[in-house]
Amino acid sequence: MANNNSISKVLSGILILFFLECSTGQLYPNYYYSSCPPVTDIVKTITESAIAYDTRMGASLLRLFFHDCFVKGCDGSVLLDDTTTFTGEKTAKPNNGTLRGFEVIDQIKQAVDEACPGVVSCADILAVAARDSVVTLGGPYWEVKLGRRDSRGASISKANKDLPTPTSSLTTITSKFADQGLSLKDMIALSGAHTIGKAKCVNFRSHVYKDSNKNRFFSGFRQSICPPVNGTGDDNLAPLDMITETRFDNSYFQNLVAFNGLLHSDQELFNGGPADLQVLLYSNWQEAFFSDFVEGMIKMGDIKPLTGSKGEIRRNCRKRN
Ligand code: HEM
Repeated sequence: MANNNSISKVLSGILILFFLECSTGQLYPNYYYSSCPPVTDIVKTITESAIAYDTRMGASLLRLFFHDCFVKGCDGSVLLDDTTTFTGEKTAKPNNGTLRGFEVIDQIKQAVDEACPGVVSCADILAVAARDSVVTLGGPYWEVKLGRRDSRGASISKANKDLPTPTSSLTTITSKFADQGLSLKDMIALSGAHTIGKAKCVNFRSHVYKDSNKNRFFSGFRQSICPPVNGTGDDNLAPLDMITETRFDNSYFQNLVAFNGLLHSDQELFNGGPADLQVLLYSNWQEAFFSDFVEGMIKMGDIKPLTGSKGEIRRNCRKRN
């Protein structure tokens, strides 16, 4: 009898904790435990095959998540298409012509909705696809908290204002991250995402031609694929990490220490300022980078999620219901 009593007390304790977790509007990893058990497997399979087909896609999905979270929170707003009556964020300056991966998110959404119709948000799909991209390319694993809902709006003005640009100074970048509740340490660790992927000449031209804090040989190579005149070769691509472009590792920081950062904003992290020591640490110690990167990604994923009855679960990630 006493035994039964203690079991039921423990069970009700667990239930109370479970409901508290749900009702406080917090995100948690098991959110789809009963409503859509296969969701993580589906996202993983499709993300992996997208990367097998195009290695850069891993980088593009990671960037898409960052650009989602920094504008009104991680609410899938970046995925919304423009229409005649609706302006999304895709044509904002930091996004226009450089964001990729929307088709992969569509494909995942379709597969997830076939398994569990109308349950999983596009914002959560993006969060899991970003994690799976990092893992697939050799980076660290973390449990992604879930339960975000999708926005019914977007903000092109916030996308233009809140996202850092490649010409930003360290002070500006730091304050844009601080505005989102992210510390200098988070910012430096998260910038390590530039260990994968590419950038367009238009985004690194001024650094490789005009800045003085750069390695001469490196900038010479980059100049050879990026003509000096604005408007010529703007879309030519170069890897953000000259050492291991498709591997998620700490070589981005090794580049910075050797003044081989591709973007002005990259090299700002190692330019005699307050970020130098941490960059040096990560350049020598990959585990420290991985652990701080994971912490930063979890914090970034927590930026202003829509939970409870806010927002909606979109049927199509590109459109409001
Ligand atoms: C610190 C401030 C940051 C600035 C100024 C910045 C800026 C940029 C720019 C200009 C590009 C190149 C876009 C192009 O030309 O196609 C880029 C690419 C990329 N960014 Fe950032 N970024 C920053 C932080 C981050 C963060 C925090 C993440 C993710 C956690 C991230 C992930 C990426 C990835 C993975 C790419 C490569 C995308 C691809 O190849 O499709 N960036 N970033």
